[in-house]
Formats: sequence, C-alpha cells, structure tokens
Amino acid sequence: MIYSNQYNDLELDFHIPVLSHKAVEYLINPSLNDLIIVDGTTGGGGYSEIICKQLQNSGKLICFDKDLNALSFTQKRLSWCQAKIEFVNGNFGNLKEELNKSGIDRISGIVLDLGLSSYQLEKEDGFSYMRNTPLDMRADIRDKETASDLINSKPRRELEIMFSYYGEIGNAGRLADLIAEKRKRRKIETTGELIEVINSGYNLSKSGAYDFYSKIFQALRIAVNNELENLRDVLNDSLDILEEGGRLVVVSYHSLEDRMVKNFMRDNKATKKGDGKLKVLTKKALTPGEEEIKENRRSRSAKLRAAEKIK
Ligand SMILES: C[S@@+](CC[C@H](N)C(=O)[O-])C[C@H]1O[C@@H](n2cnc3c(N)ncnc32)[C@H](O)[C@@H]1O
Repeated sequence: MIYSNQYNDLELDFHIPVLSHKAVEYLINPSLNDLIIVDGTTGGGGYSEIICKQLQNSGKLICFDKDLNALSFTQKRLSWCQAKIEFVNGNFGNLKEELNKSGIDRISGIVLDLGLSSYQLEKEDGFSYMRNTPLDMRADIRDKETASDLINSKPRRELEIMFSYYGEIGNAGRLADLIAEKRKRRKIETTGELIEVINSGYNLSKSGAYDFYSKIFQALRIAVNNELENLRDVLNDSLDILEEGGRLVVVSYHSLEDRMVKNFMRDNKATKKGDGKLKVLTKKALTPGEEEIKENRRSRSAKLRAAEKIK
C-alpha cells in the first residue's frame, strides 16, 4: 500500500534514532539466511535504513507503525529499498495476525523502539504540554478513545491508579480529585486546560513543573495507546513466530516497560532442564554512551535488551 499522500516534508528531522547501530547489530544473526526482519516501530525509519543496508537480495523487511505519518515519511526515505520492504499500518500487538495476512509465519528478527517519535511529540495533537492542542494522544487515529475522552470518563479511582502506576507520581489521588472536580463543571479538552487543572492544585517550580507534567502526560499516553498490553502481546507472539536463531531486541524508555521485557526474557530463558526458548544476549540492559546522550537528550533513559530464540 502507498502512504505517500500523508506526508510531504522529507527535510524535517522526523526523529533522531537512539542506540540504532547497537540495536541492529543484535537484531541480525549473521548465521541465518533469507532474513525476514520486522521493525515493529518504524517511526522515521532510522533503524529500518540500517537494516535495509544489511539485507541481501533475498531478505525482506516488514515495517510496522500505528502512525500513518511515520510510514509515509519512511516510505519516501527508503524508496531506494522499496523492493524489499512491506509497510504495515498496524499495531505490533497483533504481530502474528498482521503477518498472517501477508502469508508470513516465521521471522528472523524483530526490533521494537518503544514510545513516541519526535515528530509525534512536536507535531501531533495532545502529546506535548509545550503546545496547546486538543488532548488527543492517539498514535493511531483509527482508535476510538482520545486522552480527553479518557480523562472525562474514567472513574476517579481509575485515574488515580493510572497516574500512580504509569506516571509514577506520589499522591496521585490529589490529581484525580482535581480532575473529577473540574470535569463536573466543564470537560477537559485541550493540553492547556489539563495544565491549568494541574496548576490549580500544585505549587510547582518551573523545572519541577516540566518534570511533573511529563509524568502525567506519559501516564495518559500509555493508557490511551494500551502500550503495556501491546508490549506484552508482541513479546508472547514473538516467541511463537521467531525461527531458531531469530532475535528479539527491545529499546524501552520507561521502567515498567523495561521490567516487562527483562522479566519476559528471564522467564523464557532456556535452562539445563530443557525449559525455556530464549538465550539472553544482554546480561544487563545496554544504555547510550555520554556522547549519544549529549547529542540527543531523549536517549538518556533508553535501555536495550536482546535475546535469541534457541529452540
Ligand atoms: C521511538 S519511535 C521509533 C523510531 C524509529 N526507531 C526510528 O529510528 O526512527 C516509536 C514509533 O513506534 C510507533 N508505535 C508505538 N506503539 C506502536 C504499536 N503498538 N504498534 C505499531 N507502532 C507503534 C509510534 O507510532 C512511533 O512512530
């Protein structure tokens, strides 16, 4: 399918990829042939470009993204490699189902670089507290529920759990109370209105405020896009669909995601008793070096973990 009508500005910095060379180094097992690689989070195509350069003629790359803008951008960026790429405007949480549609039942590697692209943060609605926009936050505009729908309809107690668990903020009940009070009078529909609600109940310093807002926005984004459920599903699917020697690589930016990946790899680790299907390739999570963090602040929280399916 062609997505190129959606996005026309190739000049713009769509996203600066994080740990991209390390991720692809782990992803491609040099002893496998006829590779079928999945980039589950294509974004601006930074990882996909490196993968494409390494694919032999028989190799294939499947590029997933929920966000049409990402696919449209990458389709143009990687037009030189188009014969080897298939784009899927879908959710990596439905990995097996989406691949089945293309007749694929085994893959040689899958990489996930979780979270948002810079483009989403800077240009799409709702993700950033720095711009006053509709409180949307859907990475896939076909999804029904926006952040505004969620914040205006969730029971107060569920809001508290969401901010406490996904946002990792203390006393999340206070924020849930503020929202519950405000929405009785008027719906909260924009990022600016949400910020006003927060400011009405907290006395925050400028630097403290940004940190606090980002945690709250992050919690909402995780909930709107079912990020943890999707991650759980793709990890399980990958175990079934990776061929022997196939690799799973995940770069995460949130402690809950990293914990989920770490536990998944530990729980499926092959043992002498013959249980488990994975060999963990990264004893500890890899993190970016000082140089990368200096050049790209967003990379500072990244953690990379990789495993190989051994049977
Ligand atoms: C951090 S960016 C990836 C950047 C990419 N590695 C690059 O080099 O440009 C994450 C991307 O994953 C996409 N995404 C997040 N969750 C997804 C999901 N469940 N299914 C498909 N795409 C998803 C987002 O829309 C976003 O474009």
